[in-house]
Amino acid sequence: MTQFVVEDLERTLAPFRGDASAILRALHEVQSELGFVPDSALDVIAKTCNVSRAEVYGVFTFYSDFRATPPAACVVKVCVAEACQANGSREVVADLKAQGYDVHTRKAVDGIQVEQAFCLGNCALGPAAFVNGQPIGRATAESLLAAAREVSK
Ligand code: FES
Repeated sequence: MTQFVVEDLERTLAPFRGDASAILRALHEVQSELGFVPDSALDVIAKTCNVSRAEVYGVFTFYSDFRATPPAACVVKVCVAEACQANGSREVVADLKAQGYDVHTRKAVDGIQVEQAFCLGNCALGPAAFVNGQPIGRATAESLLAAAREVSK
């Protein structure tokens, strides 16, 4: 990370200085600012919050929503929590995987990256999903990819 970005992050994280309970908020702040949490940001957070890098890394890896690399142009999140599973989200995930979009590797294909999520607050319309933050209910692999391709144009 360049010196400029580190200094920016130090400024952004200043409200958390010396606060060991602020690791999660600091990680959110970095991801909100940069779109992901670069490895070197873990050191900045550790120094700012006065905790070890291992503590920051532990929180970072516990929550699957944090990403270590920049996101694709379009991020599709498919809910795989219980209510959506009961409505077929596993089939949606399997159909997406059959087309090359794996929620586990999160590898971007043609600018589209598919991830799993655990309850998006739209359980009544499961399988629920987000396409770049836009909610989609009664999702199918086809409806999600169509929406994603529209966003990626
Ligand atoms: S269980 Fe899928 S949105 Fe709540």
